[in-house]
Amino acid sequence: MTQNTLQPAVRVRDLTAAYRHDTVLDGVSFDVPRGVVLGVVGPNGAGKSTLLKASLGLLPESSGHVEFLGSPLDAVRSKVAYMPQSLTLDPTFPVTVLDVVLMGTYPGLGWVKRPRKAHKQQAREALELVELGDLAGRPIGQLSGGQRQRVLLARALVQEPELLIMDEPFQGVDAASERNIVSVLKSLKARGVTVVLVHHDLMTVLDYCDWVALVNRGIQAIGPAENTFTAGNLERVFGIPHLGAGHAPAGGAAA
Ligand SMILES: Nc1ncnc2c1ncn2[C@@H]1O[C@H](COP(=O)(O)OP(=O)(O)O)[C@@H](O)[C@H]1O
Ligand SMILES: [Mg+2]
Repeated sequence: MTQNTLQPAVRVRDLTAAYRHDTVLDGVSFDVPRGVVLGVVGPNGAGKSTLLKASLGLLPESSGHVEFLGSPLDAVRSKVAYMPQSLTLDPTFPVTVLDVVLMGTYPGLGWVKRPRKAHKQQAREALELVELGDLAGRPIGQLSGGQRQRVLLARALVQEPELLIMDEPFQGVDAASERNIVSVLKSLKARGVTVVLVHHDLMTVLDYCDWVALVNRGIQAIGPAENTFTAGNLERVFGIPHLGAGHAPAGGAAA
């Protein structure tokens, strides 16, 4: 862990993000405490991806103050892993699964430099964790959506992040891949890693997440799932009556 372990995993102050004249986020502030699995939930177009990208400094038209693990992102970049929403790939893209995972072994390693043996070993271990050890030599473009997401997760794992930020990791993913990703998330949480996860499926929010942020052009609610993932909040954010924590299936909010 970094020295600033008393600081929140994410601290956002007055974050504003816009595309041309469309202001998606206007002065958003929130903290994500260490060690939670935070589900970011909201309707399509609510600004969930924008929130992640703006926080990570990936949008030119954004402003505000953001700290990760108590520091500006540049100081802790190697401790923060980000999996973007989707990876569209040409099936002939000439890069193997192992190559993609190796990209996570250290940030300075470009395509042309030769990775060390130790990095290859780390990458193979990460591929075992996502149950893709036998596909290491395959071109990445030949994999299914679920397998690709697991490759991206393996790439994040070799980085040994303290904070993992994922944008809809279960989108277009088969049930076996989803189970694998969830089991990896649970083991990360058990090791104290903070996970921020944009999640679409309201039925599994309480199984996967212990904190929830409800997003609709801003943060409508954020906190422990039992306080935020409520029927009233969901109705307010989605505009439709929906199952909330009060009607949750047995199992509760623990991730
Ligand atoms: N690159 C972009 N250029 C212009 N508008 C965008 C762009 N990306 C997203 N938007 C708009 O910003 C709003 C929020 O989008 P997004 O953050 O992707 O929502 P979500 O991830 O919650 O579905 C939407 O109205 C969307 O159309
Ligand atoms: Mg999105």
